[in-house]
Amino acid sequence: LKVLLINGPNLNMLGKREPEIYGSRSLQDIVDTLDVQAKGMGIALNHVQSNAEHELIDAIHSAYQKVDFIIINPGAFTHTSVALRDALLSVSTPFIEVHLSNVHAREPFRHHSYLSDVAVGVIYGLGEQGYAFALNAAQQHVNNQTN
Ligand code: DQA
Repeated sequence: LKVLLINGPNLNMLGKREPEIYGSRSLQDIVDTLDVQAKGMGIALNHVQSNAEHELIDAIHSAYQKVDFIIINPGAFTHTSVALRDALLSVSTPFIEVHLSNVHAREPFRHHSYLSDVAVGVIYGLGEQGYAFALNAAQQHVNNQTN
């Protein structure tokens, strides 16, 4: 099973950035923990973080017919990017949208997502655990499709 983890803008600042909202762990810490989990599950996990919309789009395109599942925290592009939505639809790779914070308890502009209605599922407000849950759900989803 091949899973691509994508983190969008400003998530490279995790640990430093608004720790009361996003926690004190760095993105590297989070990815390292997820790598251990993935190895234990027999999942090949690749990770891309970028602050640039076009790089995120290119990463999604590179998953075409090569990756079984995408886990994406699109950061603020969640609320702005029709292009990320179209990219995900263009590769038709199933994906889960993850947010560390409870976006629905925050500013109204964070309540709308351009991705949620085309995602397999959405996880928000559970911090770093959200990625772990998404990895489990990804495996379940792919198993259900292929068995
Ligand atoms: C976020 C929520 C977004 O609204 C915000 O722009 C982020 C992080 C989260 O993980 O909670 O950058 O996606």
